[in-house]
Amino acid sequence: MEWRRTHFCGTVTEELAGQKVILNGWVNRRRDLGGMIFVDLRDRFGLIQIVFDPGNMPRDEFAQAEQLRSEFVIAVRGTVQLRPEGQANPNLATGKVEVHAHNLMILSPAKTPPFEIDRADDVDESLRLKYRYLHLRSKDLQDAIALRHQVMQEVRGFLNEHHFLEIETPLLIRSTPEGARDFIVPSRVHPGEFYALPQSPQMFKQLLMISGFERYYQIARCFRDEDLRADRQPEFTQIDVEMAFVEREDVMHLMEEMILHILRKIKGITIDGPIPRMTYQEAIERFGSDKPDTRFGLELTDLTDVLQGSAFRVFASTIAAGGAIRGLNAEQCGSLTRREIDQLVEKAEQWGAKGLIWMVVEEDKIRSPIAKFLTEAELQAIRDRLQGKPGDLLLLVADTFQLASEVLGRIRLLLGERLGLIDTGRCDLLWVVDWPLLEYDEESGRYVAAHHPFTSPMDEDLDLLETEPGHVRAKAYDLVMNGVELGGGSIRISSRAVQERMFRALGLSMEEAVNQFGFFLEAFEYGAPPHGGIAFGFDRLVMLLAGKDSIRDVIAFPKTVSARDLMIDAPAPVSEAQLRELKIKMQH
Ligand code: AMO
Ligand code: AMP
Repeated sequence: MEWRRTHFCGTVTEELAGQKVILNGWVNRRRDLGGMIFVDLRDRFGLIQIVFDPGNMPRDEFAQAEQLRSEFVIAVRGTVQLRPEGQANPNLATGKVEVHAHNLMILSPAKTPPFEIDRADDVDESLRLKYRYLHLRSKDLQDAIALRHQVMQEVRGFLNEHHFLEIETPLLIRSTPEGARDFIVPSRVHPGEFYALPQSPQMFKQLLMISGFERYYQIARCFRDEDLRADRQPEFTQIDVEMAFVEREDVMHLMEEMILHILRKIKGITIDGPIPRMTYQEAIERFGSDKPDTRFGLELTDLTDVLQGSAFRVFASTIAAGGAIRGLNAEQCGSLTRREIDQLVEKAEQWGAKGLIWMVVEEDKIRSPIAKFLTEAELQAIRDRLQGKPGDLLLLVADTFQLASEVLGRIRLLLGERLGLIDTGRCDLLWVVDWPLLEYDEESGRYVAAHHPFTSPMDEDLDLLETEPGHVRAKAYDLVMNGVELGGGSIRISSRAVQERMFRALGLSMEEAVNQFGFFLEAFEYGAPPHGGIAFGFDRLVMLLAGKDSIRDVIAFPKTVSARDLMIDAPAPVSEAQLRELKIKMQH
């Protein structure tokens, strides 16, 4: 008997009424009703109701239907019939019909799954991840993975049309300096030597420009050993792009077009360009973040000038040290309980602030534990600057400008969420531009690249590289969507001399630079076109398009926050023999 399917479950509609069909799929649900058995049969394309009636089929096959349980894989031969009057299910594409079975074959029985597939959210995430292949059967994940596929096709389509070539780059490479730790792979052939997995294809795509490919892209896998969060995985995917003979505007313009194209095609959202831009400096000043969520207000304000000369120890010492006093008006939050306010203070301290000053604006006065240390005029100035109205809660942090801004920026996000200020229907895109080239790293006492060491300084700032490295701005740009850093890129350095100066600014000796990047520096000496590019976090893009909170929800086989794959149980020890072959000894 033929069991190969003639139709997908989800495509059996009233046009097929009266026809014989063969369907294959999983039992989504089985119900016994008065001697008849009803099964919702599921495949990737949907659900269809199957009716097993003992009068319609061989006795032994009906007996098998009685054995069916959720997740059995079966083949059914039957006739499509309109459902009886009043029994249509409007929620189902196939809801007007049902298939009356003549024959049944069980292709694979199934144990009771460890959780109900469509109610997986109710169980512990570790159980879901262990049985990821079952969770992936849920409608939610099927849709997310299908969406991921569609977005990938749109990206490829767009870039192909714009004359980009998709080129793969190696995974076994040397360390690329993107700022995270490398995953390393020991070499058997060269004992004691290691490959690194790419944190990104950065150097290769630049070399492809020097090779003359002009427009490159890759849906690239990247590996970074860093602290994980909802939007970070140890291996993730980038839409990686590089172009030759371009300036900042060219890259930004085309990439903007690509993102707007995807939003239009995938979500039907039409956003008129150009996407607004904000300098890094303004982003920190107003939002305390280099990836501001502009969907709500609660902007930060500076109070340093109005508190000059204050006798209050916290303000005086901060100002003397060249720091800043930054403030935020949490409007109408004066009614927060003391406990809730204390929690905010605790958060601020966790995030590195020395404290969080709070003031509740009342009709005739300001209530605050530090009110007694301030003059009436100072209290009034704070209230005026923050436009405090009765019922508002004013929050202040005194520290370096950067830290005070960042802590308040995080408090802002917390409050925005808690107070329901974020319009989740909105899709806010923003370019953040004019980044600093270098950041001072307190821990190592050195400057580190804010982006990566191949980013070009702004021409007009180039000569500050040796004198005031912290003030050099970069030809870099980040695209932010709803407060998530979607992508970042830059115009690159394309001359050996400037690249050497950059390495020197990063504290690398010429010997170290040549040792690590000699091949790269040399390449600039054989005719390097001006070039630049960008990489988007593909998982993040799909996460936002799918309306999810975590990139784990749009990756088929993700890892936990502690970088484990619970399904295949990796990482795992390897055998003594493997280690011997690699000449690696474990230190116990
Ligand atoms: P960058 O390091 O900014 O730039 O990375 C580009 C984008 O990749 C995404 N991303 C991540 N997504 C998930 N998990 C992670 N651990 C993770 N890390 C980064 C972010 C980020 O914006 N080579 C440069 C690009 C260039 O200059 O062209 C680079 O990799 O969305
Ligand atoms: P202290 O005198 O250290 O107890 O601080 C008095 C109040 O000021 C406390 O509520 C602290 O949380 C707060 N505070 C101390 N240092 C800072 C700071 N740098 N920025 C904001 N608030 C601070």
